[in-house]
Amino acid sequence: MHTLLFTDVENSTRFHEAFGDERAAAVWTAHDRRSRDLLARHGGREIGRADGLFLLFDRTADAASYALEYRAALAELGLSARVGIHAGAVTLRANAASDIARGANGLEIDGIATPIAARIMALARGGQILMSAAARAALAADVPAGAAVVAHGHYQLKGIESPLEIHELGVRDVSPFVPPADVDKAYRVVRDGDLWRPVREVRHNLPPERDAFVGRGMELRELAQRLSHGARLVTILGPGGMGKTRLARRYGSAWLGDWPGGVYFCDLSDARSIEGIASATASALAVPLGRHNPVVQLSHVIAGRGRCLVVLDNFEQVVAHAPATLSRWLDAAPAAAFVVTSRERLQLPGEQVLAIEPLALDGDAIDLFVERARAQRPAFVLDEANRTAVAEVVRLLDGFPLRSNWPRRASACSPPGSLRCECAIASNGSAGCAAHRNGRRRCSRPSTGRGRFSPHGNKPPWRSARRSTGPSRSRPLKRSSTSHPGHRRRRSPT
Ligand SMILES: Nc1ncnc2c1ncn2[C@@H]1O[C@H](COP(=O)(O)OP(=O)(O)OP(=O)(O)O)[C@@H](O)[C@H]1O
Ligand SMILES: [Mg+2]
Repeated sequence: MHTLLFTDVENSTRFHEAFGDERAAAVWTAHDRRSRDLLARHGGREIGRADGLFLLFDRTADAASYALEYRAALAELGLSARVGIHAGAVTLRANAASDIARGANGLEIDGIATPIAARIMALARGGQILMSAAARAALAADVPAGAAVVAHGHYQLKGIESPLEIHELGVRDVSPFVPPADVDKAYRVVRDGDLWRPVREVRHNLPPERDAFVGRGMELRELAQRLSHGARLVTILGPGGMGKTRLARRYGSAWLGDWPGGVYFCDLSDARSIEGIASATASALAVPLGRHNPVVQLSHVIAGRGRCLVVLDNFEQVVAHAPATLSRWLDAAPAAAFVVTSRERLQLPGEQVLAIEPLALDGDAIDLFVERARAQRPAFVLDEANRTAVAEVVRLLDGFPLRSNWPRRASACSPPGSLRCECAIASNGSAGCAAHRNGRRRCSRPSTGRGRFSPHGNKPPWRSARRSTGPSRSRPLKRSSTSHPGHRRRRSPT
């Protein structure tokens, strides 16, 4: 038995186009040098090289530690690669010296293990190291120090009869740890009685994402970990516009295969009563409600869906009804789990809170700004002329540039100074050129004193202010006419 390892450097064609052949060749030279030096240290053999490497190891533990160090070495070169590892029986065949002299590999490898390893590599996301169950078993307790292995369910690989369980090897907070998406030659399957069913057939009502999702890797991993460790009620907590809904949807679609009973997204933004919650939930589950108690009817429906995930979005204005609805469903449907997005915690027994913070000011928040600015003006680039202004806008908006459509407006400003003018509007609400005064009410927001929304129940300053103006419990705070314009609810396309 041997361990095979394939790598494929991501975006290598685009990288040639962007850098030109000469600079790209210099990067490839560095890539080859680093990978071969590492190979010598980890006792592997090089079998072939194309847009990545094909390597052979006697021990799976060596392949695993090689993969982790290779990932880190590539990151230093500004590259990332998919990596696939599989352990299995192979036949090694040495080529004749005359063939090697004409460019043949020194060694050929025959056996089904090779296409399996190659398919696993093709399934990986950029920067992701995937391994087959056979490789995972061969690794046993030799997981390299500081690394972790997470199972991502079963995948059907083209040309291979039975689905294989796929694992991810990585480093927490660095590696993706997200189930691989389906690709041409491999797709995720779930067990349905005696059959394997493609995950793409699992019921759900999640709309496809319309724009790029940025960051939030840690929050996604945390949510996935809690649910896979048995949490049945997780509240994603944070102020308006922070990305709670987007996070819940992203989790639902990326981890769909973990919920063979389906993922049901219930939009409660119009619900104000128990009946309102029931009606939105019934519509997400696509069931008609009869005359009898709708909460009890839904208990039976949810229980009948088996291991399913129900996402209750915008729960804050109906928190008072959580015991009469959600609590009952938790009791009636033991295989179901619930993810709630809310600006307030529910205070139900068993509730786990995942409080989300603004995006990192020096990383994801800027990336998000640039993404959205480019969607409006494809030629927009972050450069020396606008970098400081963009960072300032992002900082003034507490790391959440989407709250107020800033990228759209800012990318439309031609001189970089206009962006600063927008910043001035945001910072004191009075400055700004006439051209930008139009959407000011919509875009400005007061300084929150950088105060963070407390996961322990403290209200953010703008919420306290609104409370003091006296909106009643039955009136949704987020819709209050006294709510701050910067946090006014925007209907998001996501
Ligand atoms: N990680 C992200 N990547 C890309 N866009 C995001 C991300 N997070 C949020 N957004 C976008 O930001 C906007 C606000 O996010 P979202 O609607 O999820 O906030 P929210 O916390 O649910 O707000 P509310 O409390 O008002 O419901 C949406 O347009 C959403 O698509
Ligand atoms: Mg929301």
